[in-house]
Amino acid sequence: MLFSSISLLTLALCTSNVYGHYPNSYKFDPLEHLAGTTPTWEPLDPPTDPAPPQGCNVTRAAYLVRHAAIFANDFDYETYIEPFVQKLGNTTEDWTKIPVLSFLATWQNPITDAEQEMLTRAGKLEATKLGVDIAQRYQSLRTPNKVWTSTAERTVKSAKSLVYGLADDLSDIDVIEVSEGEKEGANSLTPYESCPGYSSSAGSDQSSKYLDIYTAPIMARFNTAAATFNFTSTDIYAMSLLCGYDTVIRGSSPFCDLSVLTPNEWLGFEYTNDIQYHYNTGYGSSVSGAIGFPWVNATMNTLMGTQNNQSNATTDQDLYISFTHRELPPTVLVALGLFNNSAYSGPSQNNVNATMPLDTINHRRAWKSSNILQFLTNIAVEKMECSSFGFDAGTYYRVLVNNSPQQLIGCAEGPGESCSESAMGNWLQDRAAIVGEYGSTCQVDFTNSTDVLSIYSQ
Ligand SMILES: *[C@@H]1O[C@H](CO)[C@@H](O)[C@H](O)[C@H]1NC(C)=O
Ligand SMILES: *[C@@H]1O[C@H](CO)[C@@H](O)[C@H](O)[C@H]1NC(C)=O
Ligand SMILES: *[C@@H]1O[C@H](CO)[C@@H](O)[C@H](O)[C@H]1NC(C)=O
Ligand SMILES: *[C@@H]1O[C@H](CO)[C@@H](O)[C@H](O)[C@H]1NC(C)=O
Ligand SMILES: *[C@@H]1O[C@H](CO)[C@@H](O)[C@H](O)[C@H]1NC(C)=O
Ligand SMILES: *[C@@H]1O[C@H](CO)[C@@H](O)[C@H](O)[C@H]1NC(C)=O
Ligand SMILES: *[C@@H]1O[C@H](CO)[C@@H](O)[C@H](O)[C@H]1NC(C)=O
Ligand SMILES: *[C@@H]1O[C@H](CO)[C@@H](O)[C@H](O)[C@H]1NC(C)=O
Ligand SMILES: *[C@@H]1O[C@H](CO)[C@@H](O)[C@H](O)[C@H]1NC(C)=O
Repeated sequence: MLFSSISLLTLALCTSNVYGHYPNSYKFDPLEHLAGTTPTWEPLDPPTDPAPPQGCNVTRAAYLVRHAAIFANDFDYETYIEPFVQKLGNTTEDWTKIPVLSFLATWQNPITDAEQEMLTRAGKLEATKLGVDIAQRYQSLRTPNKVWTSTAERTVKSAKSLVYGLADDLSDIDVIEVSEGEKEGANSLTPYESCPGYSSSAGSDQSSKYLDIYTAPIMARFNTAAATFNFTSTDIYAMSLLCGYDTVIRGSSPFCDLSVLTPNEWLGFEYTNDIQYHYNTGYGSSVSGAIGFPWVNATMNTLMGTQNNQSNATTDQDLYISFTHRELPPTVLVALGLFNNSAYSGPSQNNVNATMPLDTINHRRAWKSSNILQFLTNIAVEKMECSSFGFDAGTYYRVLVNNSPQQLIGCAEGPGESCSESAMGNWLQDRAAIVGEYGSTCQVDFTNSTDVLSIYSQ
């Protein structure tokens, strides 16, 4: 069959993607903007190549991982979801008459009291998949003897699910449980619990300002359609949370439909959360870097092989994997200086709170909770032996966040913007000075505290 030149052109235009962005290839997925309830994903932020740089082999690696998807966080449930669900149960509103909200006539709450805080099936599967991914990525590294986790059931089950994918035999890996107590100092995977300077409610005053702003038009729209229900800003917030929880429990959710909440409204939900985490565990908190630093310090020292020489701890394993809750990864990012909205603006520009205005979205911020504390979010540090063109042969380190290599500011001169071992020591000291010591910054008020995370060698 012969194509005319016109039909060849048409065919080319259809298949080549040349016009793929015109006139309207707009796509929006709320599941990528759900802050702490964002299902596991890799945002490619930035889209740097996760493969080792040319000439480099990974010889050791450490991971810090948030637990996988749960039925519901108890604070989210008690503060937002339960009141909304109860209101739904009491209302006389006839939802079937309101097209956009008609699903509320039959929707059932998927979260029971017994299952709250527990891992979902999908969460277990994703943690196992991460174990397989790590095993495949580091085929030449030995299977670790130990994996560490804080003691909460959702973190322990995440660790065990990962082991299922990582080990050949489950008995090859011990899952070590680390106390979540309030007197562990820095020596736990929940060091914020022992930090009096940390407040779990920090950021709620600031985030509620933007919550009121972005929910106002939604409330007006819904309350015009549903005259008796009286939607409030916290109801709207609950509906957004339910998009996430419904999805990780059932696989999909009517709350995620873009006819219910529009893309820009989802961005408002995400920004409200980003403000909260900015002040809670981010650059707007004066203690977050000090909380995250002990993990960075212990991890770097362990990978470098300079810690706990006498116990052989550093030579025990090639892979160090630890599970924690949503609070720790962002504090570690602050300790590392990553996702800093003020980065590259110079020390005199460190008005980082101004980068998160409370009355309008800063779309250009680096600090996006959906990209850094989603379910199963992970921060990896890789030690590499390199013999790359244009670089000195030797040992280099790099940090990956959800599989995206990051540039450590002030230490990115190596292959693939990695940090040389000779520079790493000074860089760590500089970071320690910027974020402050755990004990003094946190104003620890018990006598037997410590500034050092030593779980790897205990
Ligand atoms: C629902 O109704 C029950 C029983 O009348 C009442 O106790 C409860 O406060 C109501 N809940 C809401 C959220 O209106
Ligand atoms: C401090 O003492 C308490 C018990 O009195 C203990 O639970 C905790 O682990 C200790 N902290 C450290 C850092 O040793
Ligand atoms: C709607 O709910 C808000 C918050 O609970 C309350 O202050 C207000 O009085 C309610 N309005 C109506 C019309 O019921
Ligand atoms: C940002 O705001 C928080 C909370 O008000 C405050 O503690 C912190 O010092 C502020 N940070 C800067 C750099 O001004
Ligand atoms: C980092 O870890 C080393 C080895 O455990 C320790 O000696 C040092 O005090 C730690 N640095 C900070 C700032 O905590
Ligand atoms: C570790 O210990 C051995 C024997 O005690 C010593 O020879 C070696 O220098 C130590 N290595 C480091 C990095 O401290
Ligand atoms: C270190 O490892 C070597 C070889 O496995 C072993 O012989 C030695 O007893 C270990 N040292 C300590 C302090 O555990
Ligand atoms: C964030 O960036 C600013 C500007 O470069 C810098 O002064 C500040 O120290 C950084 N914050 C942290 C915690 O690294
Ligand atoms: C990396 O591993 C390969 C295969 O084992 C080896 O040939 C190469 O020399 C290694 N490169 C470095 C820099 O260690």
